[in-house]
Amino acid sequence: MAERGITFVFSLLAVFSNTLTAVIQTQQTVLAAVGKDAEFSCQLLETKDVLQVTWQKVSPVMEENVATYSKQFGQRVNDGFTHKFEFKYTGLQNCSIVIRKVTYEDEAYYHCLFNTYPEGSLTGRTCLQVYELHEPVVDVRQSNSEEWVVSCSATGRPAPTVTLSVSQQDLSFSQYNTVSVSNTNATFTVTTTAVLSGSRKHSTQVGCAARVLSAPHREVMVMLPDDDDDGDFTWIIVLAVVSVVAVLVVILLVVKRDWISAVITAHFKQQNKTGNKTPLIKHENEQLRQRTSTKKTPKNINRKASPSTAKRLFEED
Ligand SMILES: *[C@@H]1O[C@H](CO)[C@@H](O)[C@H](O)[C@H]1NC(C)=O
Ligand SMILES: *[C@@H]1O[C@H](CO)[C@@H](O)[C@H](O)[C@H]1NC(C)=O
Repeated sequence: MAERGITFVFSLLAVFSNTLTAVIQTQQTVLAAVGKDAEFSCQLLETKDVLQVTWQKVSPVMEENVATYSKQFGQRVNDGFTHKFEFKYTGLQNCSIVIRKVTYEDEAYYHCLFNTYPEGSLTGRTCLQVYELHEPVVDVRQSNSEEWVVSCSATGRPAPTVTLSVSQQDLSFSQYNTVSVSNTNATFTVTTTAVLSGSRKHSTQVGCAARVLSAPHREVMVMLPDDDDDGDFTWIIVLAVVSVVAVLVVILLVVKRDWISAVITAHFKQQNKTGNKTPLIKHENEQLRQRTSTKKTPKNINRKASPSTAKRLFEED
């Protein structure tokens, strides 16, 4: 029992002395977004007689040799790893490898072993951490003239933290509410909602930042809806209505020109043979009378049957 304890302490010391005397410079943790490449590099800071550099993937369940580099055999990536790993820089004092398109299965410790003579191997250790972070989605709704409900959602793994911000100092968030939903693919969708209140100035922006571990955060900025936006919108409606009316005027003018000539014909026929109107002309005549006010008689139209008259008639409608 005591013996085992002492062995444990010794092996612990061995690990410590190894890492302390090893003077290998390497990253403690490499953070890589899922689907991206991850790079590990180890540098032996003291000049030693290195025979070979070995890269290992070490997980709680196994330790596998991934790749080796030596003067004699050059670069070798072992079977089963060739699709994933490649050397970036090779040297016996300085060596780096790249993992292509990382997945969560690649999460492990990666050891670089400098096999030296006569000291034996010196080990550097790096941890690969894989994460996922999608761009946040912001939604802003105005609840009254000085209050907006801002909601921001971000999906990531591990669960991201979502932070809201506002470009205008005297506006403030309150009534925070955060909900985290776990998705089937082990990611989390975190939604933070808060009420933003105060009197907004022109071009105020609301920001939402999503963070996972120490990875670069992702931020989205949106403009706070402008009160004047309603005015702009009204203008668009007015413009649209004016255009539609203009088109209708043109169409009606063209159509009315036919009516007018019909009316003229009808009037002449009326003068020539009173009481002998064709049903079609009578019908058209009535239509016109319905559209123009009853004050006007076909006689008026008859006298000045030019397009400007028609236009005036239309405007008087
Ligand atoms: C070792 O590699 C790192 C990164 O690959 C590089 O910045 C450094 O200059 C290299 N050092 C030597 C001595 O080659
Ligand atoms: C995981 O699920 C979320 C939400 O369903 C989705 O947005 C994301 O793209 C998925 N991630 C992967 C790697 O499929």
